[in-house]
Amino acid sequence: MGLLRWEDRYSVGIAAVDHEHQELIELINRLHDEVTAQRSRDAVIGFFGELFKAISAHFALEERFMGERGYDRLTEHKNEHERLLDEIRDIMEDFEASSRFDERPLADALDAWFSRHFETHDARLHKALGSH
Ligand SMILES: [Fe+2]
Ligand SMILES: [Fe+2]
Repeated sequence: MGLLRWEDRYSVGIAAVDHEHQELIELINRLHDEVTAQRSRDAVIGFFGELFKAISAHFALEERFMGERGYDRLTEHKNEHERLLDEIRDIMEDFEASSRFDERPLADALDAWFSRHFETHDARLHKALGSH
């Protein structure tokens, strides 16, 4: 079973951007399926690494786009990205300290974050500038 499910409330109102976000969710779910199948400490650490990479890559794309177009809320938007990455880092550190992988907090953090960030920051960005 996937970690995340696409919800209509995630939509920023631009099909191309929604599609990109859906792909990110699919990728996270695929990585999650792999880690569930393997159930090892190394697999979980690998999962966090890949998750972090995929999300950072998406953020970097948005940040480059905002920079190129001189977006007025670039710093604020970028800070929000940093906050999510910090949160994931904290969850990963907890796992490394305890070796127990409770995926609920991660799923909840990602879900809450995706819905909040998509419907506020990303929606405003893409309404102002279109898709990248
Ligand atoms: Fe985005
Ligand atoms: Fe964003």
